[in-house]
Amino acid sequence: MSWTPDELVAFVGRVLYEVVGRGLTLDFAFQRVKRGWRRLDSFKVFYDVSFDAVKHYFLLRYLAAKLLGSSGAKAVARAWFIYRADAVLYNRDMVARYRKRLLKRARGSPEEALLSVEELRGDPVRYLSTKYSYHPSIVEALLSNLPREEVERILEAGNATWIWLRINTLRADVDKALKMLEGEAEVEPHPAIPFAVLLRSSRRPVQYLTAVREFVAVPQDLASIYAVLSLRPSPGDRVIDLAAAPGMKTSLIAQLAEGRAKIVAVEFSTKRVYRMKRLLKLLGAADQVEVVRADSRRLRTRRFDKALLDAPCTSSGAFTKEPATKIYPRLEEAARYSRLQRELLVNALTLADEVVYAVCSILPQEGEEVVAAVGGRAEKPHPDLAPSYRGGVGGRTFPHIHRSEAFFISRVTPS
Ligand SMILES: C[S@@+](CC[C@H](N)C(=O)[O-])C[C@H]1O[C@@H](n2cnc3c(N)ncnc32)[C@H](O)[C@@H]1O
Repeated sequence: MSWTPDELVAFVGRVLYEVVGRGLTLDFAFQRVKRGWRRLDSFKVFYDVSFDAVKHYFLLRYLAAKLLGSSGAKAVARAWFIYRADAVLYNRDMVARYRKRLLKRARGSPEEALLSVEELRGDPVRYLSTKYSYHPSIVEALLSNLPREEVERILEAGNATWIWLRINTLRADVDKALKMLEGEAEVEPHPAIPFAVLLRSSRRPVQYLTAVREFVAVPQDLASIYAVLSLRPSPGDRVIDLAAAPGMKTSLIAQLAEGRAKIVAVEFSTKRVYRMKRLLKLLGAADQVEVVRADSRRLRTRRFDKALLDAPCTSSGAFTKEPATKIYPRLEEAARYSRLQRELLVNALTLADEVVYAVCSILPQEGEEVVAAVGGRAEKPHPDLAPSYRGGVGGRTFPHIHRSEAFFISRVTPS
């Protein structure tokens, strides 16, 4: 082993400080701390532990305060070691020895501290926020829209990480892709979506799988796949994707239309336009897509059969992928996003006969309320989706039902 547990705990304490103190995403925080660190053969363990510590931050902070008398980043990193090291590190002897050392300074037993979480039950927001490690505002938002038992199931399932792979049939057929994956990973096919598989285990990080490096399989969350399935792209369709970069959904539209749709992909950010052009080429979709840099709020162009509006949003539904959103959900930005989403959707309805509107958000302000405000006819676009918070105006995906991120998806037609 090329690192010591002291060093691991110090590293994770720094990452937590960057995420909690400076509001960085996990990857930014990790890279920042790594840059100032001595060289290691591999930082993989440090990354996995940082990810796990950020994911369980609120519970660990509570336990650190109870057990170690401090809720600072370093104490939280120590609490990670006491409670979570067994689940992530392989070297059992080292874990047991270091844990014992940490517990010498403890104010009680770790089991008692953990049990004391149950004493918070009378305050549902604090209890669920601590037990499952979510910012209280996420718990509050969910509790004001769903029954408590369901909220608890969402929060619990949201602590798992689901990696879905989309077989990119523009590059290879499903059988060939599955053969490529076979030697390196164990996958579970989706029961109803033939080109989607869940990565159960893998001998290497997902981005290093041969099928992924060759763009035969691409990591894409099931919620995103449902957004595109809701559009029902078919050969001959004229489709416009109004918030398109980096082009993951655009390329799935091209795939589902079997390479025979006319697709225009619009993106506001110049930098992201370049990124999208590169990615579409790698995915084998570039010659079917016309890429345009424009503001989709004001775009005037010919009419399309279908539009996809995968709108910019708080990303508050992305907690299964980005654990920092559990600490800083930025829900206070919902009002600004909601205005932008309405403007985008109003214009989208002038451009196409039907619009699929999708957002990675748990908030009705970015979902149900947006489609209700624009005056079109809004409906649930796919039978697999769970009911929306407000009846038939759309549907939702959830981690406890779909093993996916939390999205709102609706089909809106001009009235
Ligand atoms: C949720 S992301 C889209 C992800 C993309 N659909 C995919 O699946 O790869 C939203 C995108 O909308 C872009 N955007 C924001 N405001 C826009 C506007 N007014 N017009 C066009 N694009 C905009 C953002 O730059 C961002 O790339």
